[in-house]
Amino acid sequence: METKVVSVDNFMDNKRNYEQAVDILKNGGVVAFPTETVYGLGALATDELAVQKIFEAKGRPSDNPLIVHIGNKEQVFNYATGISAEAEKLMETFWPGPLTLVFHKKVGVIALNVTPGVETVGIRMPDHPVALGLLRALGEPLAAPSANRSGKPSPTEAGHVHKDLDGLIPLILDGGQTGVGVESTVLDMTTVPPTILRPGGTTQEMIESIIGPVNSETKSPGEQAPRSPGMKYLHYAPEAPLYVINYDADKIRAAIEKLHAEGKKVALIGPDELGILGADWYFAIGLAGNNEAMATNLYGALRKCDLTEADLILAVETDMAGVGAAVMNRLMKAAEGKHYMN
Ligand code: TXA
Ligand code: MG
Repeated sequence: METKVVSVDNFMDNKRNYEQAVDILKNGGVVAFPTETVYGLGALATDELAVQKIFEAKGRPSDNPLIVHIGNKEQVFNYATGISAEAEKLMETFWPGPLTLVFHKKVGVIALNVTPGVETVGIRMPDHPVALGLLRALGEPLAAPSANRSGKPSPTEAGHVHKDLDGLIPLILDGGQTGVGVESTVLDMTTVPPTILRPGGTTQEMIESIIGPVNSETKSPGEQAPRSPGMKYLHYAPEAPLYVINYDADKIRAAIEKLHAEGKKVALIGPDELGILGADWYFAIGLAGNNEAMATNLYGALRKCDLTEADLILAVETDMAGVGAAVMNRLMKAAEGKHYMN
């Protein structure tokens, strides 16, 4: 299959390219498109055969549920039941935006393979003109996971999607780099209080400012979150083994010297102000404390490591404030829980 990459930046091109995407989706195909978090790989959420193509293209385990994307808030009532006043407040405040809400699903509406093995459905309204344009043109919901091969970092540029899925999908809508850079927060509204299953673009602090305290299954990064099925799989992994390391220039420099003495080449992912510290490759992802910048740039940096000959990757830890919780969650997953010890 030939994979076409078409721009959706230029308004004159938009119409034709949208129409092409809508056409493919209506006929049961899959299309990659930008959202404010990462690129998604969409299929009609009501079409089981179309949804099956997502799992095939991604190589995704079929027991991991997909998020349903909607183009207007009211559509949530078509697919979910038991929507609380708290949930309505969250939708009012944060939709469109990087917050996925998990509800009891309405029976018989969404294709069964969107939510394999669970009685719930995760729904979000993305905050990106291309995603919203597509959803509104379709008038139907899209099931869409991140548009990467399973296990790889989520794509934040069309080129990342092309690298992973070339030949496996017909169309990629190129809307440039995504803004948030990490995926949506997954908040389970079926527990009391609600539970954060995956930290993401909408921070715990933001959610709690609207509905008060929530549970977090992901407070200690690297820990398994059993009720979000996706959390048990290898995730966000670059090719070389990755270790998280403390923010300590002397310790990092010493670690790199030791690794060099062992004949290993080292890639370093860290904040702008630390500098290269003797590493063979250095990918700066934003000033320390600017957790939004780090979220935006993290996956791109992980993917750049795959273009080097590094034997090992060191990634400098960030603080847990705001979206820092999501950055550390992804880093600890990419590291499979490993901290570098000198
Ligand atoms: O920002 C995002 O959320 C992106 C963009 C494309 O919207 N999508 C995304 O989808 O990250 P995906 O499939 O890569 O991750 C969805 C996560 C998985 O960890 C999955 O297990 C969890 O959400 N999830 C989905 N539906 C769920 C449900 N009903 N109950 C529990 N966890 C659910
Ligand atoms: Mg994903």
